[in-house]
Amino acid sequence: MYALTILLRHHAKAVRGCAHGLVALLLAGCGGSNPLDNPPDVSNPANTSGQKLSFAYFQRCINPIFNTVLGNNTCAASGCHDDRDGTGGALRIVRSAQPIDVTNPANTPDVIRASEMYRNFYSAQGMTLLSSPPDSRLLTKPLVRGVLHGGGQIFSGDQDPNVRRILYWISNPAPQGQDEFSTATYNMFTPADPNVGTCNS
Ligand code: HEM
Repeated sequence: MYALTILLRHHAKAVRGCAHGLVALLLAGCGGSNPLDNPPDVSNPANTSGQKLSFAYFQRCINPIFNTVLGNNTCAASGCHDDRDGTGGALRIVRSAQPIDVTNPANTPDVIRASEMYRNFYSAQGMTLLSSPPDSRLLTKPLVRGVLHGGGQIFSGDQDPNVRRILYWISNPAPQGQDEFSTATYNMFTPADPNVGTCNS
């Protein structure tokens, strides 16, 4: 032990040099940054590329499906997807939500986004997959297609008019860069009037 101390003291300069070399090697191995430093900030850009679904078509053609008795229940029934006492996972529906005249300039995006109907729209949109509409939970759950559903099978199959409407809604988002109130989505009605046009599907 004594001999080692003498040796180290004698070669202190060389030992220090080696240690520095070792740290430099370590730093080079870690891409030159100090491994003990904090990791670089994670960038999380806002999702601007995601297309939006049509609010006008939703409130006139999809929301009524949630209040229609299908089998023993409505989708928005309490114990199912009712906003207050539902057990239906993240799909939450306010039964009393009223349609909004989207052509009335007083109904600005901020006004509509504060409405009960918009809460239903937002919740239902969260159950959709724009990259593959038929695989959207809003369809696979009530069709019990490859998944179980607490409410059982609600829709009869692909030709069920409700299924055709939901698929049409998800497959026809607003044009890229436009929001959910885009008037381009009015062509989802015939005539292209969001207040009186019939729902295409
Ligand atoms: C058109 C009608 C309906 C639609 C579109 C629908 C859709 C859905 C969706 C998308 C989910 C998944 C939610 C999540 O991932 O968080 C779900 C779950 C659920 N639904 Fe429904 N549902 C309908 C009717 C019903 C009815 C009538 C009941 C009650 C009898 C019901 C009971 C439930 C329950 C308990 C769950 C949670 C368990 C699970 O994930 O399966 N649903 N439903």
